[in-house]
Amino acid sequence: MNIDILLGLQWGDEGKGKIVDALSPVYDVIARFQGGPNAGHSLEFNNVKHVLHLIPSGIFHPDKLNLIGNGVVIDPAVFKKEIEELGPPVSELTKRLIISTKANLILPSHRILDAAYEASKGKSKIGSTLKGIGPAYTDKTSRNGLRVGDISRDDFMDLYKEHLNRHLTILKCYDFKFDLKEYEKEWFEGVEMLKNFRIINTEYLVNELAGKDKKILAEGAQGTMLDVDFGSYPFVTSSNTISAGACTGLGISPKMIGEIFGIFKAYCTRVGSGPFPTELNDETGNDLRNIGHEFGSTTGRPRRCGWLDLPALKYSIMINGITQLFMTKADVMSGFKIIKICTSYKVDGKECLEIPFNNDSAIEPVYTDLPGWEENISALKDYNDLPEALKKYIKFIETETGVPITMVSVGPDRKETIFRK
Ligand code: GDP
Ligand code: IMO
Ligand code: MG
Repeated sequence: MNIDILLGLQWGDEGKGKIVDALSPVYDVIARFQGGPNAGHSLEFNNVKHVLHLIPSGIFHPDKLNLIGNGVVIDPAVFKKEIEELGPPVSELTKRLIISTKANLILPSHRILDAAYEASKGKSKIGSTLKGIGPAYTDKTSRNGLRVGDISRDDFMDLYKEHLNRHLTILKCYDFKFDLKEYEKEWFEGVEMLKNFRIINTEYLVNELAGKDKKILAEGAQGTMLDVDFGSYPFVTSSNTISAGACTGLGISPKMIGEIFGIFKAYCTRVGSGPFPTELNDETGNDLRNIGHEFGSTTGRPRRCGWLDLPALKYSIMINGITQLFMTKADVMSGFKIIKICTSYKVDGKECLEIPFNNDSAIEPVYTDLPGWEENISALKDYNDLPEALKKYIKFIETETGVPITMVSVGPDRKETIFRK
């Protein structure tokens, strides 16, 4: 059981990038298994912040292997830009990063389709990042996709044109203006960049390394509440963001999974549309956004903010089989006099512990109030030194969920991480 998984339990942006980077020293391989450039994973060290979209968050550790699995959808233009902005030369990065032949490609026309679909939705927009995720996964499951392994084929250009023409036919049904040329140029330059990297059937390598007692960390993108099956459909992404997604997105057996780390913010955020029972459209919500710098890492959009939602957290823990909880952004809540925590919902006047199927249900959160804490906690290194009120908050969540909180993150830097002994 040499493969651990780290994934988000809320609506994304829980701090996955920061924690994967902080955990990387104890792993040999860091592997992304789903999602694509809709992700924005931030990590900070030496006073510099990096935001990764496609590349796993272990990339800054020179001795670690980073792997983009078959479950990921790759836009070569985004990939090239990201590689060039990382810092280390391409010749060095090609030693640290390998890519699955079976990862599907996001074509320039997938981005256009994403925008056309979203524009046609009127009031029921998903709030997509418009990176082409939905159309690329649609083509994958309808068996119309192009994959990374195809870029070395002699007839790649013909295949590309075939796919483009199919998309252009669909686009005729939409009253949507677009210009493909500029992006197509960047995209083909990205394809050339991809060719510098090792493109292999990564499922063989992952299984071989796990068999040799190498430790692998599977890095989730998005969050459980954005999962295509279990999130608030249709306000979700197009992949399985849950622990089961690591098996299909890397080609591994459930038997090989060890720990499943579930990461959550001490409060909740959501970017894009869809239900958010504990959302705060008031001063407290603004305070959480401003103190927590809650603006999207990929799109810059302001994130919706609210109190911690335990029914949603418990649901995520159940679906994923979480073995350890990691709590981030506890520092953002310093100074709040009262901290509310949602313990159940009232749906149409009746108390309820389940997330309703119907997104239109009027959900009223039922709160328990806990005392806040004043202290700035970002410099603390030892769990025992955390304010008593924060420890009570942690204890409350552990008792409610039945899962231990083994890590508390108190700032964006990789050093601002407290592991509980
Ligand atoms: P991800 O998508 O899950 O990797 O999360 P994002 O990077 O999109 O968003 C998390 C944001 O919170 C980033 O700006 C991080 O630098 C920051 N962050 C992560 N952990 C902490 C923490 O414990 N405290 C504070 N204040 N910021 C954090
Ligand atoms: P990370 O990995 C937060 C949201 C979008 C939108 C919905 C569908 O950084 O946590 P898509 O582009 O997939 O069609 O968008 O999902 N979304 C995210 N929200 N963090 C993310 O990734 C997200 N990736 C997608 O805002 O509501
Ligand atoms: Mg993010």
